[in-house]
Amino acid sequence: MDLRRYVRGLLEERGLDVNGRDLERVVNDLSRWTRRVYTPGLVETADGSLTLVSPEYCEPYHSITAGAVTECLEKFIKPSRILEKAKLKEEVRILDVGFGLGYNTAIAITEIRRTSPRTRVEVTALDLSLPEDIPPLPEPYRKIHGELISSLPLYESGNVRVRLLLGDARKRIYEVLRFEADAVFHDPFSPFKNPELWTLDFLKLVKEALSPEGVWVSYTSALPVRRALFDLGFRVGESVPVGRRRGGTVASLRCEVPELPRETLLKTRTSPYSVPMRDPDLCWDALRILAEYRISVLLREREASSEGKRALPRGSP
Ligand SMILES: C[S@@+](CC[C@H](N)C(=O)[O-])C[C@H]1O[C@@H](n2cnc3c(N)ncnc32)[C@H](O)[C@@H]1O
Repeated sequence: MDLRRYVRGLLEERGLDVNGRDLERVVNDLSRWTRRVYTPGLVETADGSLTLVSPEYCEPYHSITAGAVTECLEKFIKPSRILEKAKLKEEVRILDVGFGLGYNTAIAITEIRRTSPRTRVEVTALDLSLPEDIPPLPEPYRKIHGELISSLPLYESGNVRVRLLLGDARKRIYEVLRFEADAVFHDPFSPFKNPELWTLDFLKLVKEALSPEGVWVSYTSALPVRRALFDLGFRVGESVPVGRRRGGTVASLRCEVPELPRETLLKTRTSPYSVPMRDPDLCWDALRILAEYRISVLLREREASSEGKRALPRGSP
């Protein structure tokens, strides 16, 4: 793919003037974001649990530096407060966006069964497909994880039910708009490798599937994602950092969320990169979403420089 030609085409289609320096900056960001870094295969993570690196996205399914199990507990289950909710309710509902190897779901079920054995658990999960040769989780998660993987797309055991809806989540999300999730585990690959599930347009549908008191959690701290959540009316906060400097994101329509650090909040308000990714008909490919996003950034940069707003921080996400 000739990125320079592709971006020039999009700019010309919109009647925008193309100067060489701007074109270079757009193309540089795009080639950085689409670069493939990891080699596909099985990997041991920092806490000893195993994960895979996806051959399609060349990204690990879990954080190697935090540890796969640690990431599930610290970036998804704890900040979602699903364990506290399970103690107070007869049933809790989880929407798992990006089921992957099933770790988030299996660990959440095990922990809810341990702490609130009588509470019913209803999980709906979305994924394109189930990978082959999913590595087992360590104890105490191994049993439920194994049973879950071998019985999907429907797992029912006692008071737990898990449905896996296979196919593009942008199409299947319409089946869960009234799900009233207590927690959404939003876990696609990273926004600059897998932007299809991080756009304002997709997140708007996820918002419909979330109960007003529910909590949306993710490992990402990416500016366009936080901007989209703000624009959709969410309260947006940050989870505790694990395995890296920045924390993940916690969002809710009505619940309190941990505050964003001041510097981060300022960047979310002022950086030209703080603009949502878009996918108006939920069918663009990853490159189109990224290119349109980078063009929106360019327009904000041009606007800022024409207004002489030199104070805008330039840092790209
Ligand atoms: C980081 S992995 C998820 C890891 C998982 N939560 C776990 O705990 O094992 C991201 C997942 O998002 C899925 N995905 C990416 N794009 C998708 C799409 N358009 N529709 C549905 N699933 C998608 C991938 O197939 C992959 O399994």
